[in-house]
Amino acid sequence: MDIVELIAGYIPLKRSGRNFKALCPFHHEKSSSFMVSPDRQIFHCFGCGESGNAFKFLMRYERMEFPEAVEVLAQKAGVRLPEFQKEDSAVSSLITELYKINEASALFYHGNLNSVAGQQARQYLVKRGIKVETAVLFKLGLALETWDGIITHLRGKGFALATLEKAGLILPRDSGGYYDRFRNRIIFPIRDIKSRVLGFGARILDSSLPKYVNSPETPIYTKGRNLFGLDLSKDAIRDSDCAVIVEGYLDFIIPYQAGIRNIVASSGTALTQEQAKLIKRYTHNVVVVFDPDSAGEMAALRSLDIFIEEEMSVKVATLPQGFDPDLFVRESGPEAFKEKIDNAQSLFDYKLKVLKSRFNAVDIEDKAKIAGLMLLTINKINDSVLKSEYTKKLAQELDVKEEALHAEIKKMSKTAPSAKSAETVHPKAAPASPVEKLLIKLMLEQTELIHRVKDHLGPADFADVRVGRIIEAVFELSDKGSAIEPSFLMDHLGQEDISRLICESVFLPEELSGQDREKLFDDCLLRLKQEKAKTKRLRLHEEIKTAQGAGDQEKLRLLLEEFHLLVKKP
Ligand code: CTP
Ligand code: MN
Repeated sequence: MDIVELIAGYIPLKRSGRNFKALCPFHHEKSSSFMVSPDRQIFHCFGCGESGNAFKFLMRYERMEFPEAVEVLAQKAGVRLPEFQKEDSAVSSLITELYKINEASALFYHGNLNSVAGQQARQYLVKRGIKVETAVLFKLGLALETWDGIITHLRGKGFALATLEKAGLILPRDSGGYYDRFRNRIIFPIRDIKSRVLGFGARILDSSLPKYVNSPETPIYTKGRNLFGLDLSKDAIRDSDCAVIVEGYLDFIIPYQAGIRNIVASSGTALTQEQAKLIKRYTHNVVVVFDPDSAGEMAALRSLDIFIEEEMSVKVATLPQGFDPDLFVRESGPEAFKEKIDNAQSLFDYKLKVLKSRFNAVDIEDKAKIAGLMLLTINKINDSVLKSEYTKKLAQELDVKEEALHAEIKKMSKTAPSAKSAETVHPKAAPASPVEKLLIKLMLEQTELIHRVKDHLGPADFADVRVGRIIEAVFELSDKGSAIEPSFLMDHLGQEDISRLICESVFLPEELSGQDREKLFDDCLLRLKQEKAKTKRLRLHEEIKTAQGAGDQEKLRLLLEEFHLLVKKP
């Protein structure tokens, strides 16, 4: 599908010479610096640097993962994708089978709830404030008291016992044979964002223990990768640009039923990075509803740092003692709940408040403890302005010197180097020069120039490794006789900063006719050859000095010979 057509479906485009212009959808701006090239099938924003091809646009704008973007574009273009690229067939047929089994189980349990035997369970749901249509929407169900309800039903449908065990629905008996995992419980089907049933949560109807029995991890279900209810709430989350995170199934269902639709449930475990990324597809803002003074409060608080690492905004809302969202909405109504959400505190303020209540902020050693725990969170902020503002604020709050906190941060980064700080230890060598960018542009526009570059320069001759990688890929593709489209090249190299450089190069403002272009290319090549010679000269110079110092006469002779050859040639 044409990129201009695709993007024009989202934002208004204006023609500008050979390209199209628009206000950038990825940052706020007053004059257009967002460009789309119909010739090259790419976009680039000169304001924020966002760039890429049609896939990338969908990934950024619709917050899709790559495979999803491919699927959508294929659909729009009316192309059917081959199925084979997915999994090897044995694995993929097991997975298909597990989804089928889960779907059939959900239906079976739902049927039980509506049967004569389900009367007590239906009463229980009424007592919990769940309306009939809500039970239907969530396909809530009932596992009866028998030991072989699901076994008998699914065997009758032709599924093998071994596969039912893999689905986590049945367990082997010591004496041989199997029995149902879920018995005498309300069933909550757990679905993914495509509404496929991944597994089940099951609650007992009285106060006996354990309160919940859940599906184990299976080939299709990993607890930390999914969020309960997101399939029903994702549109509301996107529209309101905020996700409310609660813990339990009922903490989701009751507010949702009362009209609070931008909500997800973590199912009672600490949030994972994958869950944060899942939410980030729809919004960068989360409000976590917290159970105050619970035993796991500090651990739960720590898990919220994940959102900071994902550069999301995270706030904490608290309910009165003894209330969870389910109970609060039923007693005080959705408006009161919304108010709690609106008045949520930033993670910084909330964490500091909790720490101040646990430690004595006047005691010197306690102050150091609070500072240490707060800095763990602050240190995860990527934006350096924000980070320094929070450090300043913490210094004021604790009445300590800001420099002392900075010194602590420094110590922390030394003891626990994160992936990000490792990158800054090895900064990229000299960024691409305008001449290098021009060379890339010219090569991509006139592929017959590629072999002329190849005669004089190699990937290793460029200080910016990104340029090296582009040149290398261009040579490779041209050797194979493949077409060299910038858009394809970006997917091929698959690296954000490289894509950006390709776009910056392609969109260099330059509209030259054939002859001038030739001259421009020659100039470019000459400049880069001179650059290469100069770098080499400097390197030789260094090596000569070292050889002199070491008294290595043989090596010195060879180096000097090389040096003279080099300076003789222009
Ligand atoms: N949970 C679990 N296993 C348990 C207890 C809890 O998996 N033994 C998960 C469930 O997803 C549950 C969530 O943690 O929904 C929150 O637990 P809790 O607050 O104890 O239960 P509620 O959801 O509030 O259930 P209820 O209101 O029915 O007591
Ligand atoms: Mn509850």
